[in-house]
Amino acid sequence: MGRAFAYVILGGGVAAGYAALEFVRLRTDGAAGELCIISDEAVAPYERPALSKGYLFPEGAARLPAFHTCVGANDQLLTADWYKEHGIELILGTKVTSVDVRGKTLDTSTGETISYATLIVATGAQALKLEEIGGNGSDAENVCYLRNIEDADKLVRVMRSCPGGDAVVIGGGYIGMECAAALVANNIKVTIVFPGKHCMENLFTPKIAEFYENYYASKGVTFIKGTVVSSLEISSGKVTTAILRDGRRLPADMVVVGIGARANTELFQGKLAMEKRGIKVNEQMRTSDASVYAVGDVAAFPVKLLGGEVRRLEHVDCARRTARHAVAAALDPSGATGDIDYLPFFYSRVFALSWRFYGDNAGEAVHFGDLGFSASSPSTPKFGAIWVSAGRIAGAFLEGGSPEEYEAIAHAVRRGTAVPDVAVLARQGLAFIVRE
Ligand code: FDA
Repeated sequence: MGRAFAYVILGGGVAAGYAALEFVRLRTDGAAGELCIISDEAVAPYERPALSKGYLFPEGAARLPAFHTCVGANDQLLTADWYKEHGIELILGTKVTSVDVRGKTLDTSTGETISYATLIVATGAQALKLEEIGGNGSDAENVCYLRNIEDADKLVRVMRSCPGGDAVVIGGGYIGMECAAALVANNIKVTIVFPGKHCMENLFTPKIAEFYENYYASKGVTFIKGTVVSSLEISSGKVTTAILRDGRRLPADMVVVGIGARANTELFQGKLAMEKRGIKVNEQMRTSDASVYAVGDVAAFPVKLLGGEVRRLEHVDCARRTARHAVAAALDPSGATGDIDYLPFFYSRVFALSWRFYGDNAGEAVHFGDLGFSASSPSTPKFGAIWVSAGRIAGAFLEGGSPEEYEAIAHAVRRGTAVPDVAVLARQGLAFIVRE
């Protein structure tokens, strides 16, 4: 027989850390011994976005414990000692191998069965492997993914083994673009290959993408678009060449793969309702089983701002907020906790650039600012786009904004500011939202 806890958080990533802090905040009467976190990672929860940013810096790189949660929201730094001090059982290096939702138990890789009264699923997502899209080479010594600390350590090791060398980055999304910037900073020549027409295709408009692609090109990055790496040529355990579908051969001292992620739902298939390839939850983040909540990347939840449309958002702010909401709801059986009312928010930082996006990129995109990149462009440019749908602001993207400007665009999206005449918005740009 194993241990029993009133609350168990399955997974030890971003959402787990923020859930633990909320738990301690709300249980002012003390909650020692009630909460347990089980994670297959070897370290306490940390701010995952740091892995593709500060962690890869050539100098002064971020290292744990400096970026444990919840430092990313200017909150507390929850080191392993913090969990101990608050009587939270942190079971690390332990994979949950099966879950009995009816019996309320979890089996772990160490052979223990742990029971819970309430379970919060925070299993996140895993990087898609090349083999899953018909490719090869994931096990090669110089092929890197980036999801956890181990991946990041491998990436740093491989990067340092080939200074001045050639990297092929597969994928033009978040991971591909952020890793490419880090590789450049580490003096590695980068070619990014992806099948779409432009980078960050799910979010950027062609115009916005053009700015970033030109900016990257000015740093020496080459883009190969509209094709894919069909195979990797391997010699003595290392990739030497990436072969494109059109037959082109790219020399490679290393490869970084960022082709998307898959939510970790396997443990709950057939046991909980699913949607959007994630675990379906209601406005309280509760799943189809009343004792189980799901948060972060794995949760598909109704977004009030989008008319209750169910979305699964693989972004850090979402992990933080859904985790807090689930804990508040789980600790309040009266049901008085309000519905989650989430404003989708994503951000990225690369080179000297930094952008934020709020809301939904639905409708007509109206651009503003100086989107044309040239050698004489300002080192900290300011531009963006506002999406107008059904006469209202639905989403907003801003590069290089001030805290006040970001707050203003977030507010405009949240309110759904009316845009009676798109031409006026196009003329005024950011000033339409940010009044003096
Ligand atoms: P997360 O992946 O953080 O945690 C899941 C945890 O569950 C992990 O500890 C995992 O090991 C564990 N687990 C899974 N299955 C298990 C099992 N069976 N047993 C035990 N443990 C198990 N977002 C953004 O908005 N801006 C950004 O700039 C970035 N940048 C960024 C960079 C990189 C490199 C990555 C990988 C991701 C980002 N993100 C991001 C996305 C953001 O990090 C992500 O949305 C959150 O980490 C999601 O938090 P979760 O807690 O849901 O999953």
